[in-house]
Amino acid sequence: MARLTWIAMAIGLAVAVGFASAAGADAKYVGAGKCKTCHKKELIGDQYGAWQKSAHAKAFELLKGEKAKAVAAEKGIAGAPHEAAECLQCHATAQGLSASQVAAKPLKLEDGIQCESCHGPGSDYKKKKTMADHAKSVAAGMWEADKDEKICTACHNEKSPTWDAAKGFDFEARKKDIAHPIPADVKGRYEEAAKAARAAK
Ligand code: HEC
Ligand code: HEC
Ligand code: HEC
Ligand code: HEC
Repeated sequence: MARLTWIAMAIGLAVAVGFASAAGADAKYVGAGKCKTCHKKELIGDQYGAWQKSAHAKAFELLKGEKAKAVAAEKGIAGAPHEAAECLQCHATAQGLSASQVAAKPLKLEDGIQCESCHGPGSDYKKKKTMADHAKSVAAGMWEADKDEKICTACHNEKSPTWDAAKGFDFEARKKDIAHPIPADVKGRYEEAAKAARAAK
C-alpha cells in the first residue's frame, strides 16, 4: 500500500513537472522562419513582411557599416563590430543563446533582432490552437510585448553606445513606430475569418 502511494506520488510529481515545462519554462527559440508560415499571410496582417522591412531585422547588417566601425573603435573594440559580443548582444537575437535554448536549427546572427526577442521563445506557443487563445499563449511562454516596457529597455538603455539620454525611450511612441497589427476585423477570430475567405474563393 505504502509503495503504491509512493508510486502515485512519483507519477503526480512527474505530471506536475511536465506541466511546468509545458507552461513555457523550457520554451526554445525557433526563429522568425517558423513564425513566417502563418504571419506572412495577408489576412493576418503580414507581420513577417513588416518585420523584414524594420530596423530590427537589419540590426546585424547595421554593424557592418562605417558608423558602427567608428562606434566600435571609440569603445576600444579591436575586431569587427559584427563579430564582437559587446555589440551583438543587442543587435541579434541569436547572440548568447546556448544550444539548449534553441530548437533544432541554430538561429542566424544575420537575421538581426527577430520576433522572439520581443515575443518570447516560441516553441510552446506557436501552435495555431494556442495562438488563438491569449491566456494559453502567455501560459506557454509568450511575453506581453504590448504591456511590458522592460522587453524593449533590455536593449534601449544607456549601455548602448549611441544612446541619446535626452531622448530616452518613450515606450508608447516607439511601439507605434514598429506597429504590425492584426487587422481589427480578424483579431481574435482568425480561424473563422480564414474559413470565410476560403469559402469565398
Ligand atoms: C545595450 C544594448 C546595445 C549595445 C551593447 C550596442 N547597441 Fe548599438 N544600438 C542599440 C539600440 C537600442 C540602437 C537604436 C538606437 C535608437 O535609435 O533608439 C542602436 C543603434 C546603433 C547604431 C545606429 C545609431 C545611429 O544613430 O544611426 C549603431 C551604428 C550601433 N548601434 C552600433 C553599435 C556598436 C558598434 C556596438 C558595439 C560597440 C553597439 N552598437 C552596442 C543598442 C545597443
Ligand atoms: C522589437 C520588438 C518586436 C519584434 C522584433 C516583433 N514584434 Fe510583434 N509586437 C511587438 C509589440 C510591442 C507589439 C504590440 C504593439 C501594440 O499593441 O501596440 C507586437 C504585436 C504583435 C502582434 C499582435 C498584433 C495585434 O494586433 O494584436 C503579432 C501577431 C506580432 N507582433 C507578431 C510578430 C512577428 C511574427 C514578428 C517577427 C516576424 C514580430 N512580431 C516581431 C514587438 C515586436
Ligand atoms: C535585442 C535588442 C532590442 C530589443 C529587445 C528592442 N530593440 Fe528596438 N532597436 C534595437 C536596435 C539595435 C535598433 C537599431 C537597429 C537599426 O537601426 O538597424 C533598434 C531600433 C528601434 C527603433 C527604430 C530606431 C529609431 O529610433 O527610429 C524603434 C522604433 C525601436 N527599436 C523600438 C523598440 C520597441 C518598442 C521595443 C520593445 C517592444 C524594442 N525596440 C525592442 C534593439 C532592440
Ligand atoms: C500555425 C500558425 C502560427 C504560427 C507558426 C505562429 N503564429 Fe502567432 N498567431 C497565429 C494566429 C492564427 C494568431 C491570431 C489568432 C487570432 O487573433 O484569432 C496569432 C497571434 C499571434 C500574436 C498575438 C497574440 C495575442 O494574444 O495577442 C502574437 C504576438 C504572435 N502570434 C506571435 C507569433 C510569433 C512570434 C511566432 C513565432 C515564434 C508565431 N506567432 C507563430 C498563428 C501562428
